[in-house]
Amino acid sequence: MKRNFPPRIRSFVRREGRFTPAQQRAMETLWPIYGLNPGEILQPEKAFGRRKPLILEIGFGNGESLVEMASARTDLNFIGIEVHRPGVGRLLLEIEAHALNNIRVYCADATDILERCIPDTSLHRVNLFFPDPWHKKRHHKRRLIQPAFVKMLADKLESDGILHIATDWPDYARHIQETIANQPGFSPFEVAKLDPTRPVTKYQRRGQRLGHPITDLAYLRC
Ligand SMILES: C[S@@+](CC[C@H](N)C(=O)[O-])C[C@H]1O[C@@H](n2cnc3c(N)ncnc32)[C@H](O)[C@@H]1O
Repeated sequence: MKRNFPPRIRSFVRREGRFTPAQQRAMETLWPIYGLNPGEILQPEKAFGRRKPLILEIGFGNGESLVEMASARTDLNFIGIEVHRPGVGRLLLEIEAHALNNIRVYCADATDILERCIPDTSLHRVNLFFPDPWHKKRHHKRRLIQPAFVKMLADKLESDGILHIATDWPDYARHIQETIANQPGFSPFEVAKLDPTRPVTKYQRRGQRLGHPITDLAYLRC
């Protein structure tokens, strides 16, 4: 069946950054174990060797929240998507250091992965922590949270699934609230009831150093 994919959001600037030798080694030796193929539809049972609720984190940066959440809930399966390869290398090292077997990773654009690889109604939770706020008005179109992207998240979440977004940029928080309020299928959810809870991330610390207020928003897929 032909699907009408949402327009491309250029939510990131491709920057290769610098790999440490350990991250480079991780990409060579650990990627074959934990990396997921962006050319295939995800089969969670094949990827994890078990069927468990699936939690997706988009734009995990250096991966610390993903590792902390997956360590706290080894009974759940976690998938991370990140375009920044050194961040992926760092996550792979942490997966190995913590001997975690419940994280798998895509190194690609989240929009592509959601469209091509993630089956509808397969996700128990989607986490998006401190997505780039694209402060300037002329860049707002690059924000990940747009109506078509939210619609796609609604399709991928199971009924009673949760969407959790955090930001340190009040204007983006307002934009997220308005966009999701206009999207059928979501109702507000109490952040205090989320399990696992959100760890503090690198970009949260950065925002707080700059005096930015932190907003967490959660929604139930209904
Ligand atoms: C501001 S950083 C936040 C990183 C981390 N979540 C944190 O809180 O420290 C945003 C991250 O999202 C990633 N990103 C942006 N657009 C993306 C996309 N379309 N697909 C995957 N990752 C993306 C960027 O590479 C970057 O690492």
